Amino acid sequence: MKVSSKFLPLSLCIFLVTLSPRILGSQTTPPNIEKKVVITIDENSLKFTEQKFGKRVEVLDVKDGIAALRMDEDALPWLSMFMHKDFKRCGGYVLHEDEGEAFQALTSESEKSMAQFSRFVGYEVNQQSLVNQSMEQVKAENISLVINKLSNFQNRYYKGEFGKASAQYIFDTWQGLLKNRNDSKVEFFQHSEWDQPSIIATISGASSETIIIGGHQDSISGYFSSPKVRAPGADDNASGIATITEVLRVLADSSYRPQKTLKFMAYAAEEVGLLGSKAIAKKFKETGVNVVGVLQLDMVNYKGSQNFDVVLMNDYTNAEQNKFLGNLLNTYLPNLKWAYDSCGYACSDHASWHMQGFPASIPFEAKMKEMNGRIHTANDLINVSGSNADHAAKFAKLAISYMIELDR
Ligand code: BES
Ligand code: ZN
Repeated sequence: MKVSSKFLPLSLCIFLVTLSPRILGSQTTPPNIEKKVVITIDENSLKFTEQKFGKRVEVLDVKDGIAALRMDEDALPWLSMFMHKDFKRCGGYVLHEDEGEAFQALTSESEKSMAQFSRFVGYEVNQQSLVNQSMEQVKAENISLVINKLSNFQNRYYKGEFGKASAQYIFDTWQGLLKNRNDSKVEFFQHSEWDQPSIIATISGASSETIIIGGHQDSISGYFSSPKVRAPGADDNASGIATITEVLRVLADSSYRPQKTLKFMAYAAEEVGLLGSKAIAKKFKETGVNVVGVLQLDMVNYKGSQNFDVVLMNDYTNAEQNKFLGNLLNTYLPNLKWAYDSCGYACSDHASWHMQGFPASIPFEAKMKEMNGRIHTANDLINVSGSNADHAAKFAKLAISYMIELDR
């Protein structure tokens, strides 16, 4: 696992860094608060982190270029800010539940693949008529409507009233879409540490083999976000949730009866360390759920340039499943231009599944260099994407072809 060999574009963080001194006044040292957390960072930034935080950081282990640390929870926003200023990257660390999980992250990708980590069974692409028929049902207007609803909440922060209310909206919407079926259900997945639940909709097939599409529902604004601050998160990630909602609508409306079990997920608390998806992936692993494929939709409505429509991230993902998505794009969306890129770190919830050994992929809106620079600000609004969801609609079509072809 590589925490960060590449950096997020500078533009992403500029707003946040210019804002933070104002919030902080003249305070320049991190507050000393007792609660400890375990994180991993790139070894290159270890010395720097130790210098900045002194006794407040304890090095647990260093391996293959990654360091596991225990440090004060309240120092994390400061770490993000320093990481930006000195290393020109956003985030820059991965938060873990405990030491065991951090040590697991220290296990290199090559070791994991030697243990045949994350196996993807090959599938033929042979459901042309059903896929084409279903893809035609996708309407960009439905997606933009849900993006607008979600970004009209003050925020969807994982703590506080707005993040809970927005979760309830997703639950109600998904339940409404499934109301005429007797093979499906919508459930909250509660998290004991914070208010916002994750949401899981299921269309059951005869087989327990499970296909998942998911994205994070929460939003954030700045390093020092709070339950009150404005965080519309239209692209990050109302776009993913709205796209999943459209996929659910199309599949639920049809007479389609899946053979495998289809799950649609809206994860809580991604923006603070992939927490919701980590808890779910862990639970699925522990209870032996047979997950045959996971597709993550996080940021799908900002077309970075004329060059590419879909970019498949090749780190923390399954290479075979990525190839399969390439086949689907070539077969069903031949006019789209697609490419590979890498995040350089565990940038979204696909990494939670990948780290539990499930095949995961993330088709992304643009090359990293060209991604939406407004995310994590009060300006992450749909007007940045021309006030429509034409770009996201491509991802809804891809996700429909993925679910049907994996199912049959
Ligand atoms: N949507 C972003 C992740 C992202 C950014 C994916 C760029 C692909 C390209 C996600 O919500 C996010 O902000 N992730 C954090 C990391 C997370 C572990 C807190 C980030 O990138 O800093
Ligand atoms: Zn984000």
